[in-house]
Amino acid sequence: MRRAISLAAFLAVGAWVVFVTHQVWAVPRFARETKAACAACHTNPAGGADLTGAGKAYQADAAKATVPTDVKGAEYVGSNKCRMCHLREYRSWQATRHAGAFAALEKADTSVVAQMAAKLKVEVTGPASQEDACVQCHVTGFQLAGGFPAADSTKNAALMNVTCEACHGPGGKHVFAKAEDRKKMINRAVTAKLCTQCHTPEMSPKFKFDEYKKLGVHAVPKAG
Ligand code: HEC
Ligand code: HEC
Ligand code: HEC
Ligand code: HEC
Ligand code: HEC
Repeated sequence: MRRAISLAAFLAVGAWVVFVTHQVWAVPRFARETKAACAACHTNPAGGADLTGAGKAYQADAAKATVPTDVKGAEYVGSNKCRMCHLREYRSWQATRHAGAFAALEKADTSVVAQMAAKLKVEVTGPASQEDACVQCHVTGFQLAGGFPAADSTKNAALMNVTCEACHGPGGKHVFAKAEDRKKMINRAVTAKLCTQCHTPEMSPKFKFDEYKKLGVHAVPKAG
């Protein structure tokens, strides 16, 4: 009897680990794995809930789906571009912890880094701000088209931290769109699934969407 219980506990832990590993970067991971633009699988070039035919096929069976890699999608452009037209959201975002996420890596002392590395079960030898294992959640569009790191230093600075496009998707098409198409080119459906790419159980054990939304998101004026 005792053996049956410990086996069940063992299996449960195993399943949880698989679930968590799957959940980390579930969203942009598809883009990294397939080298396809978000637009290959999403009707909105910045991603979101509505999937294209290829996206639905990928959801049903990733191994069998053919995802077109020649679709020209939107690229990450950096928060300085968003600032030009959305100054209110930008200022309000600056007051959130997300705006200091990269500095947190630079400032973290060796004991904090070791603690975080242990939680993630990774080995960190150099500065945390240069380790992919840390940087991936503390920047925007990590290793995606137009995303962090960028060769241009101004753009690179605008991709550091958890900025606009980490939640709203790559804005390259939205920025240049005709007025009537703008809304279709950016993701406003910011769900818990999106947050938990980074707010994993290991790194953010207290994460609750409703509570975290009040502090982590810029002020949003009532629709009207
Ligand atoms: C290979 C196809 C594919 C690519 C490429 C892809 N996605 Fe996805 N995406 C999906 C699928 C399938 C889902 C649904 C996953 C699920 O339900 O667990 C999804 C879910 C999402 C969601 C969550 C939607 C919700 O319900 O909250 C967001 C946001 C998202 N993707 C953004 C992006 C962005 C941004 C990119 C480009 C950087 C991208 N995706 C590239 C297939 C893809
Ligand atoms: C050239 C000006 C301009 C720039 C640059 C710009 N936006 Fe916008 N954005 C707009 C306008 C105008 C609207 C309102 C569109 C409407 O109501 O039809 C909008 C709407 C939005 C919305 C809400 C969409 C909705 O469904 O209501 C989001 C989110 C957004 N922008 C994010 C961004 C992000 C992120 C960036 C940077 C990548 C950015 N914007 C850059 C002009 C801009
Ligand atoms: C899976 C995404 C993810 C990875 C990978 C990640 N972090 Fe973080 N990190 C987060 C999140 C989310 C928070 C905020 C947690 C909270 O407050 O709920 C955070 C917070 C932090 C903080 C701020 C703690 C504080 O209270 O001031 C530091 C420092 C930090 N991380 C360092 C690191 C280091 C070092 C690494 C690499 C070993 C790393 N992170 C890797 C997601 C991540
Ligand atoms: C942590 C995720 C997150 C980040 C980072 C973020 N947003 Fe948002 N944004 C949201 C959420 C959530 C909403 C509300 C969506 C809804 O209506 O339910 C929103 C709504 C918006 C809207 C539409 C409502 C309004 O305020 O007019 C705009 C425009 C917008 N964001 C722009 C930006 C810009 C610009 C930045 C960067 C300076 C940014 N966002 C950063 C999550 C985020
Ligand atoms: C690209 C990764 C990423 C995404 C996506 C993300 N976050 Fe974060 N978040 C972080 C990191 C990293 C920190 C830690 C920043 C620091 O403390 O310097 C953080 C910190 C926070 C904090 C401050 C926690 C504290 O202890 O004070 C809140 C609140 C928060 N996030 C809410 C959200 C919400 C809500 C969403 C989804 C709408 C979201 N985040 C999406 C990475 C992310």
